[in-house]
Amino acid sequence: MPLSSSLARLFAAFLGLLAAVAVSTACAAPSAEDAAPGWRDEEGFRAMKRFQRGINLGNAWEAPPGTWGDRRYGPDDFRAIRAAGFDHVRLPVAWHHYTGPAPERLISPRIFAEIDALVAGARAERLTVIVNWHHFDRFTDAPDAEAVAWWHAGWAQIARHYREVPAGELAFELLNEPRDAATTARMNELYPAVIAAVRAEDPRRTIFVSPGNWGALKLVPELSLPRDITNVVATGHCYEPFLFTHQGASWTGNLNHTRGIVFPGPPPRPVTAADGVPDWVPGWLADHNTLPAEKNPSGVSAFAGQVADAAAWSAREGRAVHVGEFGAIVHADPASRVNYARAMREELDRHGLPWAWWDWKASFAASVVTPEGIRMDAGLREALLPARPADSGAGPFARRDPRR
Ligand code: BGC
Repeated sequence: MPLSSSLARLFAAFLGLLAAVAVSTACAAPSAEDAAPGWRDEEGFRAMKRFQRGINLGNAWEAPPGTWGDRRYGPDDFRAIRAAGFDHVRLPVAWHHYTGPAPERLISPRIFAEIDALVAGARAERLTVIVNWHHFDRFTDAPDAEAVAWWHAGWAQIARHYREVPAGELAFELLNEPRDAATTARMNELYPAVIAAVRAEDPRRTIFVSPGNWGALKLVPELSLPRDITNVVATGHCYEPFLFTHQGASWTGNLNHTRGIVFPGPPPRPVTAADGVPDWVPGWLADHNTLPAEKNPSGVSAFAGQVADAAAWSAREGRAVHVGEFGAIVHADPASRVNYARAMREELDRHGLPWAWWDWKASFAASVVTPEGIRMDAGLREALLPARPADSGAGPFARRDPRR
């Protein structure tokens, strides 16, 4: 992630922290009134059944070519992902690095060939796929006519290219983490036309849309699409508590230099702030070092309100919601990663929200490499993918679970 992006993300993380505190006390599960039968995008909810528990294929095609995107994914990954019990993969692609000049913005056959191989590899393991458009900084810095035309031309080609893939097996996410000038309000204005461009090529494709401020889950309730646009899923990201999930990250400036933050707090020995951290961090750490788990800033209250809020909006607005990224970096201690994964997954399950962990085998890896090959980390598997009653029932996920 570029540094300019990182600084914006720091600020977003700080705002997120404040908001999490505010909403964690205010939000509860959807009330009977919220859930009263009304208009619902039934196609969106139906499509969502095949995107319940996913994993992000990070640090590959979302990076500028020749830089940090050094992971490659193949049959062994898809087999292990499937065996762990996931039902979908989210595939981030920075399409803008592979387009020709305006106005056609022709996408190179080479990138299509690479992405085709991944889509085919996932489908061979009966994994559904979300293809997104990741890190489109030119767009999120200034979503002007040129950027918007680029985006439309790209999606029209992608939709045409994948038209033959059955509707339930592949979905598109139009823009990963809109941010800065790509605010939720601006995206609300822009989504209908790009959705029309996709649907002109492929009317059946499920489309994921995301709010601003780095696709913040807490902003999902501000998404707004006309009701004649259906087969849509709202998706948001949540990395709270950010000081825990991103400790030691190299792309977030000074913010995450402090290591040893546990989940849930308090830690066995007090954690002291690393040099150069923002002013608010020592106060956060003082709370982390002393407050009991239920009040600790590194605890469930950091995200519970956001999850509940998004679920309440889903019930009220009749739109399916997915949490496309959450996860904890490998620098956190293993037990805390498992505790965090379980706590977040339990919150999401409680509110019926499907999700995708970031990531499979990069900085937030859910996998380990053994002499026998790659496989899901046992603790994270138990935390994220326990058998659940629906697995033995008649739902689409159950039919697709290889462990039965
Ligand atoms: C970014 C990754 C980053 C992750 C966690 C993703 O949206 O694309 O580069 O590792 O968020 O910060």
